[in-house]
Amino acid sequence: MPDKVRLTQGAWELLKLLASKGAITEPVRMSSREIGELLSVSQQTADNYLVALEVQGYLSRTLIARKQQLTVTAEGVKALRSNFLDLKAIFEKAQNRTFSGTVVSGVGEGRYYLSKKGYTDQFVAHLGYLPFPGTLNVRLDGKSSSPLEEVRRLHGIRIEGFEAEGRTFGGATCYPARLAGADCHLILPDRTHYQNVFEFIAPKSLRKSLRLKDGTEVPIEVLA
Ligand code: CDP
Repeated sequence: MPDKVRLTQGAWELLKLLASKGAITEPVRMSSREIGELLSVSQQTADNYLVALEVQGYLSRTLIARKQQLTVTAEGVKALRSNFLDLKAIFEKAQNRTFSGTVVSGVGEGRYYLSKKGYTDQFVAHLGYLPFPGTLNVRLDGKSSSPLEEVRRLHGIRIEGFEAEGRTFGGATCYPARLAGADCHLILPDRTHYQNVFEFIAPKSLRKSLRLKDGTEVPIEVLA
């Protein structure tokens, strides 16, 4: 990501500080002076960091009663996560699980679920992007006897269930993955009738960007 390189170390530290104070989920009220004290820099320098993060699109700032409210944007969350994954790869032994399977069509339910605000808000907050509305289904070849269970043991990103329109929408866990080389997430609903089908979500249509058709064979890496 070339843009990321332009951020100074100080601005990057500030982004991490704000995220650790909860600015990923709700705005944090903090003055430039307070930030300066926490980072051991001048108020002016703290201001420069804030401007840099805002210009980069990683931070949104609003003034309420002369106090600034700071929120890390979805892009900011994405940058932090990408940095985290880089470090994780350095410190943890590569444990990537590989699978293979063929692209199949489902019953068109993914589009319906993926467009629910109760889910989309969480995807933006926790995955850092708004997924293309739908799930790409891949029927796994028979190598692993219980692929879903194998993945469920890994540490994933929780998407909580919710109530809306008088019914319950179930939770799910997402795992960073690569499908035919494209970055995406494997999404495992808490309750699913699938035994050997993985469902994937991504910012764009995977069928379109990878020219996939029903029956196309795809390699899968689960990066959790
Ligand atoms: O259940 P079904 O596979 O019929 O469809 P869906 O989940 O409603 O998704 C709509 C279409 O978009 C399907 O053809 C998916 O395979 C495709 N899709 C995609 O190409 N890339 C994604 N990231 C998600 C879905």
